[in-house]
Amino acid sequence: QAEISRIRNISKVQFGKYDLYPWYFSPYPEIFTQEDLLYICEFCLCYYGDFKSFTRHRQKCTLQHPPGNEIYRDDYVSFFEIDGRRQRTWCRNLCLLSKMFLDHKTLYYDVDPFLFYVMTTRDDKGCHLIGYFSKEKESADGYNVACILTLPQFQRKGYGRLLIQFSYELSKIEGKLGSPEKPLSDLGLLSYRQYWTENLVEKLLEENAKGAKCSIEQLSNYLAMTPTDVESTLQALKMQVYHKGEHKIVLPTHLIKRHEAMKEKQKTKPKRAIDPARIQWKPPV
Ligand code: COA
Ligand code: NA
Repeated sequence: QAEISRIRNISKVQFGKYDLYPWYFSPYPEIFTQEDLLYICEFCLCYYGDFKSFTRHRQKCTLQHPPGNEIYRDDYVSFFEIDGRRQRTWCRNLCLLSKMFLDHKTLYYDVDPFLFYVMTTRDDKGCHLIGYFSKEKESADGYNVACILTLPQFQRKGYGRLLIQFSYELSKIEGKLGSPEKPLSDLGLLSYRQYWTENLVEKLLEENAKGAKCSIEQLSNYLAMTPTDVESTLQALKMQVYHKGEHKIVLPTHLIKRHEAMKEKQKTKPKRAIDPARIQWKPPV
């Protein structure tokens, strides 16, 4: 029974102007899973099994952005902070939606202990959901991300990197080191590895240019990454060597070349990044 219930139960979802094809099981009420198409309101995230009731809902729904404070805005994206306790239904609906693309995480019906950081694009119709990460209000393990998701229609466009950067910028404001909750999915690990590598190489090149040395602790503090994540990244990249009784960080030529090539490419097609100065946020007390 438990095994069967984990099989993908929804074949197609209409979400805003997109059709979504779920990857995994999500515990929507069973009557909705018998439909060929599930309609989800892209603003309030409520779900409907038939077009008529969905249309009726859309005529009444007044929400045009996630129900929280806008804590970041640039010319590309906005971030909203939503409290799971204050916006229980919305956050549960977000979890149901994201569970369709998340295999391994327990779905939190209990959204109260979490804050949700939701990234949107803006147009004249409103702020459209691209992705989000959730974060425990108090994480005993020092996690700065619980779940992280880019909706499939927006994946591989650099949004995941923005979500990850944002999570570390919040940790920097808190004066804490952060790490994503384990285990990470394959896609989660790929994205984090990429983010960690880029940032570590960038920082090391900067320090090298100054003729300075950099310890794991310094890297960790600078990037708000845990020393464990710094070390595991350095190890995976074979950047840690043990030489004459001393641990040293080395930058292999192929990584320097790759980084330079990336920088060169960015001259014509700049990568989007979060501008920390635009974050309007204080750690919740
Ligand atoms: N294959 C190979 N590399 C991938 C990848 C894929 N499918 N997806 C991401 N990456 C790596 C790449 O290095 C990429 O950088 P590049 O495109 O410059 O090469 C980097 O991660 C960042 O990619 P980006 O486009 O910023 O990420 P994204 O918007 O696609 O979001 C996730 C990444 C993990 C949020 C997204 O894949 C997702 O929502 N997956 C489903 C939910 C999930 O597994 N979440 C993590 C739970 S722990
Ligand atoms: Na995670």
